[in-house]
Amino acid sequence: MDILKNIAERLGGVLFGKSTEIYKFEKIKRAKKQAVFKNPRMPLIDMGVGEPDEPADSLIVDALYVEAGKAKNRFYADNGIPEFQEAAAEYLETVYKVSNLNPFTNILHGIGSKPILALLPLCLINPGDYIITTIPGYPVPATYTSYLGGSVYKLPLLKAYNYLPRLDEIPKDILTKSKMLYLNYPNNPTGAVADSAFFKKVVEFAHKNNIVVVHDAAYAALVFDNYKPLSFLSVEGALEVGVEVHSLSKAFNMTGWRIALVAGNETLVKAYGTIKDNTDSGQFRAIQKAGIRALKNISITDKICKKYSRRFDLLVEALKDVGFNVQKPKGSFYCYVPIPKGTKQGIRFKNAEQAAEYLIKQALISTVPWDDAGSFLRFSVTFEAGNRDKEKKIIDELRQRLKTLDLVF
Ligand SMILES: Cc1ncc(COP(=O)(O)O)c(C=O)c1O
Repeated sequence: MDILKNIAERLGGVLFGKSTEIYKFEKIKRAKKQAVFKNPRMPLIDMGVGEPDEPADSLIVDALYVEAGKAKNRFYADNGIPEFQEAAAEYLETVYKVSNLNPFTNILHGIGSKPILALLPLCLINPGDYIITTIPGYPVPATYTSYLGGSVYKLPLLKAYNYLPRLDEIPKDILTKSKMLYLNYPNNPTGAVADSAFFKKVVEFAHKNNIVVVHDAAYAALVFDNYKPLSFLSVEGALEVGVEVHSLSKAFNMTGWRIALVAGNETLVKAYGTIKDNTDSGQFRAIQKAGIRALKNISITDKICKKYSRRFDLLVEALKDVGFNVQKPKGSFYCYVPIPKGTKQGIRFKNAEQAAEYLIKQALISTVPWDDAGSFLRFSVTFEAGNRDKEKKIIDELRQRLKTLDLVF
């Protein structure tokens, strides 16, 4: 039997697995491997990591340890335990001053925000419908929209507009065909934050055009200096038009634990619950209970923010020193910088992929290239260091290695 004949068109049908195109992250992985092999004595400086460098706080681990063996936690968790919904509502009120949520009708858990973002298009998209998404950005909602026979309209995030999308530039015929607007602030990869004035415009836009807003708040709690955590749901009218997805992955160093929540419009949360109920059987109750422990201990996030903020101060100074045009971001753990033009020795970079490859091969510095809306490199402060002295040493080493490349900007 030729199984390929049975593969769905969304995966390429009979052409599935035959593409010779190498994707960006695979290219980086290969370049890293090659560079490490060629320079076994030079440690790789990995600025490309997209997840926390430390495990969850022992308070959270202890909760899992206690709950994991309890007989009453062994069952399918379906759409989640009510205590998690209550803790989530309390958390959103404490951290984001969102006080109008009913924990049982406006909130549900998810096995990470990635699956929540995959399931939401299933609630909204019919073949032919559009999702409006931002580029560069997290691809999952757009990918699922395509799987469902929908189309994707891409809004570029540009430095000139503080990496906020220009909603007024979307053509009318796209607006009439669109069901869902996906946004993410603080943003991966730009590190940009939104303000309430922008979110107010988003609510107006959604009402006017009948488009549901899905705000991905995966990094919302990771903010620095004077910027305060901001929820889309704190804006008047947001509950009528959308949902927000919060994750414990980054705010509590719980990436592998797979626990997140969706909060907002009752009908949308109910629709998500219906799809979810037919997709998974809920996260292990013990993990939900450990999640509750996290949500009730927000000082854990404060500590994480202090660390990232301190690392950003070092990183931004070093990058500026070398010639990069960079500011400390107000949120996330990413900083996004225009690529150098090339080197004094006459090398020219055509795009971010080339620049990133050069940094890996010549200096064993790994970053993530973005060429969707201009050419940028993403540096992350989640590199493994262990303590403050090592953080400083790594950044000093990064500065030195970059200097020896004689980059031209
Ligand atoms: C913008 C954004 N949204 C969602 C996710 C997924 O997070 P989770 O671990 O909650 O699935 C990520 C992970 O990197 C992300 O960068």
